Amino acid sequence: MIKPIIAANWKMHKTVAESVDFSQRLAKECEGLEEREVIIAPPATALYAVSQVLKGSTVQLSAQNMHWEEKGAFTGEISAPMLADMGCQYILIGHSERRTLFGETNETVNKKLQAALKFGIKPIVCVGETLEQRESEATFDIIKKQVKEGLNNISTGDIECVSIAYEPVWAIGTGKTATPELAEEVHRFIREILSSEFGEDAGIGTAIMYGGSVTPQNIGELMDKPNINGALVGGASLDVTSFTGIIRY
Ligand code: PGA
Repeated sequence: MIKPIIAANWKMHKTVAESVDFSQRLAKECEGLEEREVIIAPPATALYAVSQVLKGSTVQLSAQNMHWEEKGAFTGEISAPMLADMGCQYILIGHSERRTLFGETNETVNKKLQAALKFGIKPIVCVGETLEQRESEATFDIIKKQVKEGLNNISTGDIECVSIAYEPVWAIGTGKTATPELAEEVHRFIREILSSEFGEDAGIGTAIMYGGSVTPQNIGELMDKPNINGALVGGASLDVTSFTGIIRY
C-alpha cells in the first residue's frame, strides 16, 4: 500500500517571509499526521529558510528544478549536492513548464534524474500530454516515450526512490481537471510501463501522483482511483487552508 503523497508546487510564488510563515502553519497542521506524505516545493530562494522551519516536522522539502552537473561554469544554476546541502529530500524534474518554456527534454530529465539519485534526492518525474497530443490520440505514445526515456538506465534498486507525476498539460492552471477515469487510465498505463521496464515490484510500488487543477473539492474522487497515489498541486497549494483541505481529503 503506497502512502498518499500530497505535494505543493509553488512555482514562482512567495517571498522568503511568506514561505516561512506558510511552512510554520503547515508544519503545525501536519503534526501527528502519519497517513500522508506531505511535500512542499518553494522557490529556490526560500529553500534554506524553509528547511530550518521544517526541522523535526514530517513535512518534506522539494526543489522545483536543478542542473545535472555537480558544479562548474553554469551561471544561474543550482546542483543536486547544493540542494542536498540545503536539506531538500525531493526534486521536481521535467515539469511541463520546464519542458515548454525552458527547453527541457526527456534526455535532460534523465540526466537530472541520475544526478538527483547520486546525491540521495528523490526525484518526482513529471510527464503529460498537451491538448493537441490528446486530440490527435498521441497521449499513450507521448507518455510511454517520456517515461521510458526519462527513466532510461535507472537501476531497479534506484527506481524505489522515484515517483511519477502525471500532469496533462491542458489541465495545469486551467481549472480543467482530468476526470478521475481519464487520469486513472493513464496512471494504469504508466504502471504497466514501469512493470515491464523495471519489474513487477516497481509497477506495484511506485507512487504515481496526479497534477492539474487539483482542489479540495476534486481530490477525493481522484484519490478513490486505485492507481492514483497522490497529487501535485499548483494554484491550490498557495493557501494553507486550501492545501490542508487537500491533504485531509
Ligand atoms: P495547478 O498546477 O494545480 O495550478 O494546475 C499543477 C502543477 O503545475 O504542478
